[in-house]
Amino acid sequence: MAGNAELPAIPDRTVSDAVETFAASNNVPKHVAIIMDGNGRWARARHLPRVAGHRAGAQAVRKVIESAIRSGVAWLTLYAFSSENWRRPADEVIDLTGLLRHYLRHEVAELHSQGVCLRFIGERDRFDGDIQADLKSAEALTVGNSRLNLVIALSYGARGEIVAAVRRAIGLVQSGDRSLDQIDEAVFGSLLETRGMPDPDLLIRTSGEHRLSNFLLWQCAYTEFVFQDVLWPDFGPNEFSAALAEFTKRERRFGARPS
Ligand code: IPE
Ligand code: IPE
Ligand code: MG
Repeated sequence: MAGNAELPAIPDRTVSDAVETFAASNNVPKHVAIIMDGNGRWARARHLPRVAGHRAGAQAVRKVIESAIRSGVAWLTLYAFSSENWRRPADEVIDLTGLLRHYLRHEVAELHSQGVCLRFIGERDRFDGDIQADLKSAEALTVGNSRLNLVIALSYGARGEIVAAVRRAIGLVQSGDRSLDQIDEAVFGSLLETRGMPDPDLLIRTSGEHRLSNFLLWQCAYTEFVFQDVLWPDFGPNEFSAALAEFTKRERRFGARPS
């Protein structure tokens, strides 16, 4: 594994100064989660097919990764495809899985050279075998990197994740590995797909929708939410830094008495 000191600099092209100022401040959220929404509306506004919106959305993903690295965020989780998105028309699902395949084939080497550690959460067995293999090799290639932990949620649904964790917990009790009393929040959290990850400090949703759409229901118990009207393909460093700025204004109490 290459040490972080040897990593190439990230090009300055797309990153605003505002993002960098957060790197110097000590109130940077450790974990930012993003519901990347609005690709379809972005395309419709331009009289383009929806797939053009998804392609433009993939470009915005590149930019947000750069912004996260520059601002000192340690974990970035991106909601790319929900378990409910399989309900979309077959041609859109084919376009989305095709884009995923392309992204994995063409972006992973670059992410690796930037020091990004990739991890995928979601029902990966619902994807074609070649995509499953690419997910596995991307994780194996980047496992030693530590500049940014990038988690991509693919065919992810929080309710399904929680039900699967309940089944695992029951299995532990039935096998005698744990007593019922030992199934506490920490143990349960370790049975989720996000095991080992900090909970998100900040959740951003674009496109003006104000809902979670089955994303990280357990993990967002005390997350700060920022909703932005921008459509995902138009999301850039300025929107990222605006969300971070909003986060710094929030007083997080976790149920304790206000300070
Ligand atoms: C987000 O954009 C991408 C996915 C959910 C895969 P949408 O495709 O949901 O775009 P809108 O919400 O229809 O504008
Ligand atoms: C949530 O967006 C999922 C992703 C962004 C990947 P949707 O567009 O699927 O959510 P709903 O259907 O508007 O709630
Ligand atoms: Mg949407």
